[in-house]
Amino acid sequence: MNKLACESLSQKPGVPLRAAFPVFKREYASGKICYLDSAASALTHQFAIDGMNHYYTQQSCNVHRGIYRASEEATSQYESVRASTAKWLAAAEQDVIFTSGTTAGINLAARAVLRGMQKRGEQIKGRIVWITELDHHASYVTWHMLADEYGLDLRCVAVRDDGLLDLSLFKESLKERPLAISFPWASNTLGAVQDAAAICSLAKQNGVLSFVDAAQWLPHGRFDPSKVDCDFLTFSTHKIFGPTGLGVLYAPAASQRLMEPITGGGDMIRAVAWNDIKFADGPQRFEAGTPSISAVLAWGGALKFLMGLDQEACASHEAKLGSELYNMLMQQPGVRILGPEENRVSLCSFVVEGMHPHDLAQLLDQKAIAVRAGHHCTQPLHARFGVRATTRASCSIYNDLDDIERLKDGLAYARRMLA
Ligand SMILES: Cc1ncc(COP(=O)(O)O)c(C=O)c1O
Repeated sequence: MNKLACESLSQKPGVPLRAAFPVFKREYASGKICYLDSAASALTHQFAIDGMNHYYTQQSCNVHRGIYRASEEATSQYESVRASTAKWLAAAEQDVIFTSGTTAGINLAARAVLRGMQKRGEQIKGRIVWITELDHHASYVTWHMLADEYGLDLRCVAVRDDGLLDLSLFKESLKERPLAISFPWASNTLGAVQDAAAICSLAKQNGVLSFVDAAQWLPHGRFDPSKVDCDFLTFSTHKIFGPTGLGVLYAPAASQRLMEPITGGGDMIRAVAWNDIKFADGPQRFEAGTPSISAVLAWGGALKFLMGLDQEACASHEAKLGSELYNMLMQQPGVRILGPEENRVSLCSFVVEGMHPHDLAQLLDQKAIAVRAGHHCTQPLHARFGVRATTRASCSIYNDLDDIERLKDGLAYARRMLA
């Protein structure tokens, strides 16, 4: 197999890309890690670790409220990360709400919109909300809970064998004025990528709110609101070389006007009197309490790395890795891959005849190969494909063809052990 040079993506000539991800330095009994679980969490870039270290060693204080140098510095760096996030998203600074992750972002957006409607006295009971068979439980479970609470008419968009959403019933329902559609831009299980621009534009033309789960898309691609005209978009920074415990809800001004805060506390107010509470304007309105300052500053480091990357080179590296992974797996006896051959991000969820995914993952671990096994928080989707669990191998820019080769050898080892 020819070497696929992930090192050519390094930002410092002569310095290997992997050198910037400290986890690669760790030695296991069976060698260095072959990390194929980036769809769960990508490895943390050194710049992110530096950002967090800098905060804890140089400032380590709160933001937005201290009138002393360290606090003012921390506040200005914290807000400058909001500005960089906005730049990376081609959005406005005020559109970026920090959350604790995609799950929190979906919960905040959905709940805040419903509370807003409730406060304005708008009809909620019986309104149609579309989720999809592809949804991560972060969306699937959340909307089910909200349907219970608010009496929503929750419906599910089916997924076709080619991994694309079958929007026919959604389109037919447009005359009934659905309230919202919530879908993942890229599936964490099938890898399938949806035409988010087309779905959001159809939704917008028909007055339907669009909630885009970009947790699996943004680690591989970019978002430009002038092309994907969504109302809400969420992602987690730990899947994009940044820290855990942080995410972003993109909500432009028009969307924020629909939202009513769902968490009260410090930092989200302008003035508080006994019977008159005025909320802050902009994203602060939805960021009650002390934020995860260290995570935001770590994300600032990750963004510095991301913005220096050659996006096209990364995309082509990952596309090659993804197709090598797919082809290698297809050549293995008894392997079935879920989802389409094309139009997918660089991950494959698969089953191997006669091997339980957990046994396989444990045997691969003996060779320091890290993959995910289970339902990947998409039980309804697994049921749709007639399986309870799969093994998932997912790649990022620091992977190379050697990793695919190691997985192939690992599969052969597992087959021998289970024979
Ligand atoms: C598509 C998708 N949505 C939502 C989530 C939830 O992200 P988090 O656990 O960071 O909130 C994940 C995480 O795996 C995901 O893959």
